[in-house]
Amino acid sequence: MELVVTREGFREAASAARDRGLGVGLVPTMGSLHEGHMSLVARAARQCDVVAVSIFVNPIQFSSAEDLASYPTDLQRDVELAEAAGAGIVFAPSSNEMYPSGELATRVEPGPLGTRLEGASRPGHFAGVATVVTKLLSLCGHCRAYFGEKDFQQLVVVRRLVDELDLDAEVVGCPTVREADGLACSSRNRRLAPADRRAAGVLFKALVAARDLAAGGEGDLAAIERMMGAVVDSEPLAKLDYAVVVDPVTLAPPGALAGELRLLMSAEVGSVRLIDNMGVHL
Ligand code: PAJ
Repeated sequence: MELVVTREGFREAASAARDRGLGVGLVPTMGSLHEGHMSLVARAARQCDVVAVSIFVNPIQFSSAEDLASYPTDLQRDVELAEAAGAGIVFAPSSNEMYPSGELATRVEPGPLGTRLEGASRPGHFAGVATVVTKLLSLCGHCRAYFGEKDFQQLVVVRRLVDELDLDAEVVGCPTVREADGLACSSRNRRLAPADRRAAGVLFKALVAARDLAAGGEGDLAAIERMMGAVVDSEPLAKLDYAVVVDPVTLAPPGALAGELRLLMSAEVGSVRLIDNMGVHL
C-alpha cells in the first residue's frame, strides 16, 4: 500500500497504475472509516485493479467551525482499515496541501440541487463537496469513483457534476450499510448518547413504513410524507427536519407516484442531525 500526502504524489501514483494497464477505483472519504466506507472499498476492489482511498476532512464543506473541529480523526487507524479492505493507494493530504492559497477563488456550485434539503440547512455544503470531489477526480484521472447512497443528495450532485463538467470518471452508487436496527452507519452515530442511539432507529422505521404505504398503493404523496413524520414524532427523542418523496434524478417533487422514487429524510436525535433515504419502485 502506498501512502501519499501530496497532490502531485497522488496524481503520479494513479497515473503510474494506469501506465501499467491497471484500472483505478477511487473512494473519497473524510476518514473515521466504518462499515459503510468499507463496503465502498470492497466493491471498488472487486471491480478495479487498484483502489485509491482519499482521506481528507474537507473544511470547505462544513458550515460551522464547531462541527469541523469535532469531526473525529484517526489517520493511522484509517490507513490500516483502508489497506485491510484492499486499498493500494491512500491519499491523505493536509488542508494546506489541498488548499494552499487558503480561501479558494474558484468553487464548483451545484445550483438548485445543492440548495434544497440538506443544502437548506447547510449553506455552502454542496459547493464544498462538489469542489473537493472535482479536485480529487481531476488529480486521480480516469477512474471509477464510488459514492454511497447513504448521502443520496451528494450522490445526485456528484453524478450531475461529473456529467456536466466532463470529468473522466464513472460514478458508481453503492447501497447503504446499516446497523442491526436499521440505523445507517455513519461517523456521526458515535456522538449519540445511549438513549439517543436507541431512538435513532426511528429513521429507518419511518422509511420502511412510508415505503410500505407507497408500495401498498397509497396515491397521495403528502400522505406518504406525513407517514414518515408521524413515525418520527412517535419517538420523543427525535425531531423531524424534513421528510419528502422526490424524483431520484432531479430531487424535485415527482410528477406522478410511479416508477423510481426516493424517500429522503433528516431528523435530529439528541443534538445529532441524522439523514437517511430509501428507494421505492412503483
Ligand atoms: P464521508 O462521510 O466520509 O463518506 C465517504 C463515502 O462513504 C460517501 O460516498 C458516503 O456516502 C459513503 N458512506 C457513508 N456512510 C455509508 C453507509 N452507511 N453505507 C454506504 N456508504 C456510506 O461523504 C463524504 O465523506 C464527503 O462528503 C466526501 C464525498 C468525501 C467529500 O469530502
